Amino acid sequence: MGYNLLKGKKGIIFGALDERSIAWRTALRCHEEGAELVLTNAPVAMRMGEINKLADMVNAPVIPCDVSSNEDVTNLITKSMEHFGGGVDFILHSIGMSINVRKGKHYTEIDYGFNAKSLDISAMSLHRVLATAMKMEAINDWGSVVALSYIAAQRVFPDYNEMADAKALLESVSRSFGYHYGVKKHVRINTISQSPVRTTAGSGVKGFDGFVEYAEKMSPLGNASADDCANYIVMMFSDMSRMVTMQNLFHDGGFSFTGVTEAVINKM
Ligand SMILES: NC(=O)c1ccc[n+]([C@@H]2O[C@H](COP(=O)([O-])OP(=O)(O)OC[C@H]3O[C@@H](n4cnc5c(N)ncnc54)[C@H](O)[C@@H]3O)[C@@H](O)[C@H]2O)c1
Repeated sequence: MGYNLLKGKKGIIFGALDERSIAWRTALRCHEEGAELVLTNAPVAMRMGEINKLADMVNAPVIPCDVSSNEDVTNLITKSMEHFGGGVDFILHSIGMSINVRKGKHYTEIDYGFNAKSLDISAMSLHRVLATAMKMEAINDWGSVVALSYIAAQRVFPDYNEMADAKALLESVSRSFGYHYGVKKHVRINTISQSPVRTTAGSGVKGFDGFVEYAEKMSPLGNASADDCANYIVMMFSDMSRMVTMQNLFHDGGFSFTGVTEAVINKM
């Protein structure tokens, strides 16, 4: 059920690969809340064709963009502004890619060329999107930007590999740019640190099923689903959260502040 929380708002959603994607779930919820959308993903991901199904459901154009390309990001923002006839009110950055994980490289033996690419796609791309949007005056006053993170930015999860460093950088970019965009245009920028979810990106982490089960048992409320995450993002895009910026917001059923649970002790 919708509450018209985003009525009249326009936004860009990065990262809907298939129906399990957090971005996919979020696009559906934003549409339900009355927002107008532009969808985007890397050209290689779009070749699978799934995103066109979502585009039909939410009545949005799809504009390809590899976030590691300045040219693609500029083109995306130009075309989105043409489509909307002006600026946007929100942006979702729901992008992650670890080349070293893909190539099976252990954290202690990563390839630095791959690492530079992973950090660029997963973290500095947020800077690139924000810098381009600022230059082109693409985000309206009091706009809201959300990027997705994971608690491996603060605590060690050995198999999360270089993505832990990427998430730490992503959270830092969100804070630093949040300052500058806040002062300039009242644009707020936050990261949401989400529970593990079975998606394509999530399943790339070694031992992911055990990881999901452990988090479930360590969270007083259980793991937050992709749909729960979509609801939280809608709230962050709405005017209900207009004074929240530069935060890393844990959306994890209480996992981040739990030392141990009876469920875990009983398993020992
Ligand atoms: N699934 C989880 O357990 C979990 C938990 C916490 C945070 N997150 C984060 O949520 C975000 C979304 O991931 P997801 O779980 O929905 O998985 P997903 O695989 O559905 O989404 C990842 C997206 O990143 C896109 N992408 C990769 N390289 C790109 C590039 N060069 N340019 C543009 N897009 C590119 C992919 O095409 C894909 O759509 C990621 O930042 C991920 O790290 C996921």
